[in-house]
Amino acid sequence: MTLETPLLSISGVSKAYGDVVALDNVSLDIRQNEFFALLGPSGCGKTTLLRSIAGFEDPDAGTITILGSESTTPINLLSLPPNKRPVNLMFQSYALFPHMNVRKNIMYGLQREGLSKEEIAQRVDEVLITTGLTDKAAVRPAQLSGGQRQRVALARAIVKRPRLLLLDEPLSALDRKVRAEMQIELKRLQHEVGITFVVVTHDQEEAMSMADRIAVMHEGRVQQIADPVTLYAQPANVFVADFIGSGSLLHGVANQGSFSAYGSTFPCHNPDQIAGDAVLVLRPEEVRITAAAPTDNPLMVGSIIETHFYGGSSSTTVRVAGVDHPIVASHPGAPQYIVGDQVGLSWNPQSAVLLQVQP
Ligand SMILES: Nc1ncnc2c1ncn2[C@@H]1O[C@H](COP(=O)(O)OP(=O)(O)OP(=O)(O)O)[C@@H](O)[C@H]1O
Ligand SMILES: [Mg+2]
Repeated sequence: MTLETPLLSISGVSKAYGDVVALDNVSLDIRQNEFFALLGPSGCGKTTLLRSIAGFEDPDAGTITILGSESTTPINLLSLPPNKRPVNLMFQSYALFPHMNVRKNIMYGLQREGLSKEEIAQRVDEVLITTGLTDKAAVRPAQLSGGQRQRVALARAIVKRPRLLLLDEPLSALDRKVRAEMQIELKRLQHEVGITFVVVTHDQEEAMSMADRIAVMHEGRVQQIADPVTLYAQPANVFVADFIGSGSLLHGVANQGSFSAYGSTFPCHNPDQIAGDAVLVLRPEEVRITAAAPTDNPLMVGSIIETHFYGGSSSTTVRVAGVDHPIVASHPGAPQYIVGDQVGLSWNPQSAVLLQVQP
């Protein structure tokens, strides 16, 4: 058995609720020890997929298999009741028991597994250390901060040592700053405990910052599965390009190696491979802004409608006559121009990806 054998294999899974197709022929593999993210807008089927893996939902079609801890042949997960599956699902709204202290909350699930008292105590102590909760063991949930409660919920899931931990929007209840801290924490924790994580989120930055690989979903279908850098640099289609990262999408037509839009022709990375309706993806950090001197020969000329300074970097939004969306450029340091300035825009053709628009 090589490490390449996926831990979880989902093949052709579909699920409909009446007329609503929640999952449409979903196939994906999750590798052992991977931090995998399911990313997509609200209603795209993320929770339905997690619930199908955990056994709280029966797919209409398809198979889901998992490698057993001892065996080298995949087991049919769909034939097992939820409590016999080696997976643990942390729900979108995790509920801690308010009348139990942190230690008891974490212990609760283990006590029903018939383990010895010593083993339970040892496992709980270990998990309290990994989640940084040792000094909160005797405290009740109401006395904890949001981030600490989140840690208790995680500890409770990890202590059972599932082969696969499914987390549905684990950080959504937290404010922005705590959330950023917990993203780092979650990643560290996954590494430390060596459990495969599947995390659902609709926040692309969160998925990008934590996951080894991401499946982008839309309307029940998987759009692309790739590592964060590939998703950003080589989106498979317009939906992924729009959903991942920020940027400007220029709508036009590709024809015999050139891309035309808004009455001009623009350089891009791959015009030969595409014909007909197409979209050019311009990432903000690839767009250069120059003073619109006639000698510069920019690709577009426009006027600045907005500038933002974020501390270490800035973004500048430019309206170009005849182009439906404004173009956004980002760069290190403070804004170099002010609203109303006429500027030129240019970009390196290698960094501008052209995508076919599906009819
Ligand atoms: N029990 C159900 N009965 C009827 N429709 C359902 C049921 N569960 C989910 N759906 C529908 O299936 C689709 C997918 O829902 P799902 O909860 O999987 O989305 P999601 O990606 O998790 O969204 P969110 O980000 O809002 O949590 C939605 O259109 C939803 O309304
Ligand atoms: Mg959901």
